Amino acid sequence: MSEPDYRQKLAAEAELWGRDAEARAQEVPPDWRNHRHLRHNILFHTADIDAFLAHIQPGMTTLELGCGSGWLTLAMAQRGAAATGLDISDKALQVARDYYTSIRDTVSGSAIYESADLNAIDLPADHYDVIAVKGTLHHLMRMDHVIAEMHKALKPGGLLWVSDSRGEEAMSTALVASGLMFVLPTVVSYRDKISGLMRFGTRAPSRIKASIEAEGLSPFEGAGREFDWLALIGERFEVVQQALSPAVTGYITHQIKLPDRAALPLLRALCVVDRLLVRLHLLHSTSVILYARKR
Ligand SMILES: C[S@@+](CC[C@H](N)C(=O)[O-])C[C@H]1O[C@@H](n2cnc3c(N)ncnc32)[C@H](O)[C@@H]1O
Repeated sequence: MSEPDYRQKLAAEAELWGRDAEARAQEVPPDWRNHRHLRHNILFHTADIDAFLAHIQPGMTTLELGCGSGWLTLAMAQRGAAATGLDISDKALQVARDYYTSIRDTVSGSAIYESADLNAIDLPADHYDVIAVKGTLHHLMRMDHVIAEMHKALKPGGLLWVSDSRGEEAMSTALVASGLMFVLPTVVSYRDKISGLMRFGTRAPSRIKASIEAEGLSPFEGAGREFDWLALIGERFEVVQQALSPAVTGYITHQIKLPDRAALPLLRALCVVDRLLVRLHLLHSTSVILYARKR
């Protein structure tokens, strides 16, 4: 990709996530104490994020790459860390700074939010106790460079935490998601579903697959797909824990149209079956949570 094309795409990426951060902050402050109660987080992330945050001790120096509206960087600061969050989106960073400023007196550590292009990042050596990257690695074209920089920047024994998607969605996932989307009440009416099925027929699962992959419509969605981040991290770090998330429940959670009292039990049950099918290798999950240490 030429430099001007890259710059243009990066500006679109920054704008997309900036608008997303601003819109979300209108609904819920960018604070894990609020975000933890969101439906999607209750089902998938609350336990995992809390488990990660339990590693953060007062006085630690931490870094988050692709911090968006800054809630995870802030959560580390709320546990007493000197936390830095980096992102390409000035609008998202402004959301993060504004909120942090509004509650600074209550935060035991500190949070700094800075603008950076991670594809060209140059981090200080042996500096951080913890580096976190959530939902961002797969957007990076120079993922190998970023992983090398994270390795350089961690202190020996320092913790790297990654939560991200890896590889392509499988057709089995798309088929199960399509079936569930068809029978469950979703943002699409049953009338539109039936006409969609008649129009797309057997191509319907491929369209669902494309729509799962296009989540967020980022111009860099899947840009890092030529790299296997798990393998790259395994080459440099000692992987201490690795877990797969459910395959289809996340997608259904975003689409389902039911009040929490009906949706949550249903999605929880679906989640249990989904996790089991992933464990039995009957469904393919692309969402991975990884803990690794610098040797
Ligand atoms: C899916 S969002 C995740 C945000 C946040 N980690 C979260 O979980 O809420 C991806 C983030 O990566 C940022 N990003 C994408 N490409 C980037 C780049 N080259 N340099 C810096 N940040 C980037 C985007 O601006 C966006 O905030």
